[in-house]
Amino acid sequence: MFLADVPVVVEDVQRRSTTERAGVLADPGFGRHFTDHMFVARYQEGQGWYDARLTRYGPLPMDPGTAALHYAQSIFEGLKAYAQPDGSVATFRPEANAARFIRSAERLAMPPVPEEAFLAAVDALVDADRDWVPTGADQTLYLRPYQLASESFLGVRPAHEYLFLVIASPAGAYFPRGVHPVSVYVSEDYVRAAPGGTGDVKCAGNYAASLRPQQQASELGCDQVVYLDAVERRYIEELGGMNLFFVLGSGSDDGAAELVTPELSGTLLPGITRDSLITVARELGHRVTERKVSLEEWRQGVADGTVTETFACGTAAVITPVGEVKARTGDFTVGDGTPGTLTMRLREALLDIQHGRVADTHGWLHRV
Ligand code: COI
Repeated sequence: MFLADVPVVVEDVQRRSTTERAGVLADPGFGRHFTDHMFVARYQEGQGWYDARLTRYGPLPMDPGTAALHYAQSIFEGLKAYAQPDGSVATFRPEANAARFIRSAERLAMPPVPEEAFLAAVDALVDADRDWVPTGADQTLYLRPYQLASESFLGVRPAHEYLFLVIASPAGAYFPRGVHPVSVYVSEDYVRAAPGGTGDVKCAGNYAASLRPQQQASELGCDQVVYLDAVERRYIEELGGMNLFFVLGSGSDDGAAELVTPELSGTLLPGITRDSLITVARELGHRVTERKVSLEEWRQGVADGTVTETFACGTAAVITPVGEVKARTGDFTVGDGTPGTLTMRLREALLDIQHGRVADTHGWLHRV
């Protein structure tokens, strides 16, 4: 059941051959391939959610007047399904994604998908496409739930019709170079989010607005953009698709290093990986502080050896070390530009939980 009164209709879908699937799973890359099925449910004002179905992955018929195409009333989530050592499949903290999806919907004046319906939709898709969950090292099935205004109407108001979909994409590393440190460009021309805006929810428009700064970073040879706060243009917020952590002190000494991550100011996305790492790092004996971190503190800390490592984290990217930093006020390199000890230790600790290699003491894994 999608909802108590809305069953999930499972269509008979022609699946791709084992050979074709094996070809994809041998080198999935990120976000390039999709599974055999997709989940779709519809919403109509006055009627609520209806017509939940697991159907063949394929194009959506769309009226050119579809509101989401004009005014970006569209939100999404990202989570992963992991092959477990006992042959089962588990998603990681899907309830947290469901909760954030509700907050995103409310911010964009959309009818929220109830948590149980979100979980049922994700489970139904993963179950149908279980064979698409890769088993290679660090490979996963990336899941993309999303919701969009499907009403054809050009007036600016919340739509009366919506689609909720879940699609799935077998995934290897998000960055083609794997855990090789990324280079980042501190954007002083653009901001990602202002107080009162949409920075703390996962709406499509946030990502559209990140593309020009991303292009600018690429032109300068950088992989990602670091955004500063919109008011003082001083404090580090996030990378647009990933949160940031700074390691203070030696990451090689057990429990000696402190981790600092920008506080949830209301303008940065409360990442589920960010939240999980705070817990994991504390359990490893590290002090973790959520507070403001200025670009100047980062630069100074790197120069005087206080800041020994910096890493980015997110569902897609897991943990990725940050190496070179380019900024108009001067470039610098974190550590010796190679992945830091604590960065890699936390990465392993998180992946061990997600892939079921250690006991799931937090109840984070959700068996499908
Ligand atoms: C994720 O990590 O799942 C994200 O949403 C980031 C990006 C792929 C959009």
